[in-house]
Amino acid sequence: MSHIISQQNIQFCVKPGGTLTGEVRVPGDKSISHRSIMLGSLAEGVTEITGFLEGEDSLATLAAFRAMGVDIEGPNNGRVVVQGVGLHGLRAPDDALALGNSGTSMRLLAGLLAGQSFDVSLVGDASLSSRPMRRVTEPLAKMGALIEATDAGTAPLHIKGGQVLRGIDYEMPVASAQVKSCLLLAGLYAQGKTCVTESAPSRDHTERMLISFNYPLEIGRHSVCVQGGANLSANAIEVPSDISSAAFFLVAASIAPNSELLLQKVGINPTRDGVITILRQMGADITVENKCQFGGEPVADLRVKSACLRGIKIPVAQVPLAIDEFPVIFIAAACASGQTELTNARELRVKESDRIQVMAEGLQALGIEAQPTPDGMVIRGGQMSGGRVHSHGDHRIAMAFAVAALRSSESITIDDCANVNTSFPGFLELSRKIGLKIALHGLDG
Ligand code: S3P
Repeated sequence: MSHIISQQNIQFCVKPGGTLTGEVRVPGDKSISHRSIMLGSLAEGVTEITGFLEGEDSLATLAAFRAMGVDIEGPNNGRVVVQGVGLHGLRAPDDALALGNSGTSMRLLAGLLAGQSFDVSLVGDASLSSRPMRRVTEPLAKMGALIEATDAGTAPLHIKGGQVLRGIDYEMPVASAQVKSCLLLAGLYAQGKTCVTESAPSRDHTERMLISFNYPLEIGRHSVCVQGGANLSANAIEVPSDISSAAFFLVAASIAPNSELLLQKVGINPTRDGVITILRQMGADITVENKCQFGGEPVADLRVKSACLRGIKIPVAQVPLAIDEFPVIFIAAACASGQTELTNARELRVKESDRIQVMAEGLQALGIEAQPTPDGMVIRGGQMSGGRVHSHGDHRIAMAFAVAALRSSESITIDDCANVNTSFPGFLELSRKIGLKIALHGLDG
């Protein structure tokens, strides 16, 4: 009799302790993978992608473009071939586009689809359907888009086609690459110039990829402008390994005794490298080797060795540069001597889960003093016990607590881990290979 495992009840059970060694290549960058499908689809010509992340989030983007008539081959061991249809070649999908857990898919597609000739609806899972979308629908409305959301400003989004978009000058209230990218993609279809200004730098993969597709951009110190109506020329894309996935192992090898890992070909874009800066300030031993470029993106091997970490006040300027890495940085803080303080990180409350609340509760369950604040957390390092924590379906929370077991006194059981596949397929196998004592339990639900 076949045994169906409920997605809800995938548990990680991690035995305490361990030493990590080896050389690993973590999967491709999620942000770049999304953008490679989007820009490849809108380009003239064929885009060959290698190193594509075969995780559920980027696969949702791929499926969305297939549903809009783009011929996409793969993924096959990270190789994807996209037959670009040009800026005006997308077709109306038969159904709503289902984007699962992926905020990047929904927010970027909202912009890209606002200027199409056809109507389209975007739907997500329970987590994505509770995340704020006004941050994109409001500026898009200023450009002339017609998008209907729920009264709470959440998905599903219903986008009305056939609107004439006009370029706007938009100052973003929060540093957000998703909002910036959404508006730049809408700007491709707008009359005139669309300019986005940010108070702090957010990841700039969209800008780098537009440039590599020969699309003219004006880049200022805190702003970027795009003029609608030019063409994108297809280009080969090699996707670097995701620094957000590498981050789990940067912390893991730092906190586990006698460990040394080499993480290969990791993207070290300066708008993403906050985790390296923060961990080094805490005393981590991380060296950057073999620097090279993948297209417009800087890449390197990262060597990390065990170190005694100490608590710090996390520099505010580093927050947007490490925005996805805080769950595992909190684990580093729990293993550090003294106190770590994070401020100015309110955005963490509206990620795949409320990462401040969920991490504070998990750390407390493991006996760590963790005090959530409206925009951050104060953590006092100490001995973690074992216990049971809940990931709330958030991939990065699940992986962060798996890493925590390297320094806990007893096993840690983590509930609701199926979504690890959204960003890091193969996490379990890779973690085991380098020394984490992790097992998966699937319970009937
Ligand atoms: C992303 C931007 C970030 C990040 C997300 C991916 C992107 O979100 O948290 O995981 O690919 O543009 P914000 O731009 O909302 O900070």
